[in-house]
Amino acid sequence: MKFFVDTADVDAIRELNDLGMVDGVTTNPSLILKAGRDITEVTREICAMVDGPVSAEVVAEKAEDMIREGKILAQIADNIAVKVPLTWDGLKACRALSQDGHMVNVTLCFSPAQAILAAKAGATFISPFIGRLDDIHLDGVDLIADIREIYDNYGYETQILAASIRSVNHIIEVGKIGTDVITAPPGVIKSMANHVLTDKGLEQFNKDWAKTGQKIG
Ligand code: E4P
Repeated sequence: MKFFVDTADVDAIRELNDLGMVDGVTTNPSLILKAGRDITEVTREICAMVDGPVSAEVVAEKAEDMIREGKILAQIADNIAVKVPLTWDGLKACRALSQDGHMVNVTLCFSPAQAILAAKAGATFISPFIGRLDDIHLDGVDLIADIREIYDNYGYETQILAASIRSVNHIIEVGKIGTDVITAPPGVIKSMANHVLTDKGLEQFNKDWAKTGQKIG
């Protein structure tokens, strides 16, 4: 399973990247706002640090404007994946940008039908948003399963990038289904290390060790 980090926080990316946990990064306008940085500057810094794809999102609504913005974003670095929304215009932009040799991440996907269109338009990645479906009492994990089945039926090469991940459980569930990539906030990735029995076991080992009166080294 490839891990993308869903943030524009350079320090958080560096911490995970240094541990070999980062296969790519996803950003969006809200994450750029949260980082409080200039989009070009922060994206360039992330691209230099990370080997894999770094998604940078267009903000225009018309295909021709998305294509223009996408080409500008793609100039930041070779590992930019241009992120376009799953609208009809976004699909047009996906087609044009992918034919131009750019990686394209089609975002804001909420249905298998949308995911089929993105694959046919040449998307490198499709980003189904799990958490936002759960928020409206639909099953986001089911969407990943549906897309996996359909893509496998027809051999589509578009990679499923499970997005809007809110919990460790989401990561495990989409991993069992066979998502190609997950993108999650740094805090969710770090919390994968937590287990109550690990804490309890460590506490006991520390107590017993103190009773031995020994030291290592
Ligand atoms: C994905 O590329 C998006 O940036 C992200 O996963 C959205 O997550 P959210 O629904 O938690 O904002």
